[in-house]
Amino acid sequence: MNSLIPVITPDATPAEILRTGIEAANGPVSLACSFSLEDVAIIDIAHQAGIKLGVFALDTGRLNEETYEIAEALIERYRLKIDWYFPRHDAVEQLERCEGLFSFRESLGKRHACCAIRKVEPLGRALKELKGWVTGMRRQQSVTRSDLKAIELDELNSGILKINPLLDWSEEHLLAYTEERRLPKNRLYSLGYRSIGCAPCTRAVHEGEDARAGRWWWENPENKECGLHRR
Ligand code: ADX
Ligand code: SF4
Repeated sequence: MNSLIPVITPDATPAEILRTGIEAANGPVSLACSFSLEDVAIIDIAHQAGIKLGVFALDTGRLNEETYEIAEALIERYRLKIDWYFPRHDAVEQLERCEGLFSFRESLGKRHACCAIRKVEPLGRALKELKGWVTGMRRQQSVTRSDLKAIELDELNSGILKINPLLDWSEEHLLAYTEERRLPKNRLYSLGYRSIGCAPCTRAVHEGEDARAGRWWWENPENKECGLHRR
């Protein structure tokens, strides 16, 4: 277990946060990649700074085609190797046979059950291999993320380090970086999506709505986490 969380000054750059976190983890560290603008920016920042960072992705079985296109674009641009993790096939078979294909819309409990099978269990397997993981979370994204730290001890995952290099980036800054670096950008963003997860649980947001309003849009804002980022 890691017991020391390094001190990060408020003006630290994402590259500095990454470097410090990786050094402190003292073992393998990977980015959890959902192919969002945030995750693509982190891959680019690490690449430019010469920082070695593994990349893993959770293929829930319900992702949008457009998301896989970004995976391919990244493989081509950075010669990226992605460690894909899938849910247990028997758990998915049982879920779909017993509950149907859209059970997550029926109640918060059923939604969490689907996320547990398709995301949280595979994440646990991915993290077992690591001493630290990197996420693209930002404080501005939601009420549930406003108190994020640059580097945290992930007590629910064996005390490995959780590194959030973009925590203080605004959406505007992220978009400007994406444009400036001509990064691959999921086509769904130009259709009004501002946060992208599984296809049946994500939709475009309307003018004036919160950035994550299109995620599990039938639920309350305080419930908009799927278990990947329990704290
Ligand atoms: S979620 O918990 O609501 O789905 P969100 O989509 O905001 O998370 O993404 C936050 C961060 O979680 C991403 O930047 C990424 O690090 C990680 N993440 C989310 N979904 C996945 C996925 N399918 N595979 C790997 N990492 C993911
Ligand atoms: Fe299931 Fe929706 Fe969670 Fe994806 S986001 S794992 S489809 S409930």
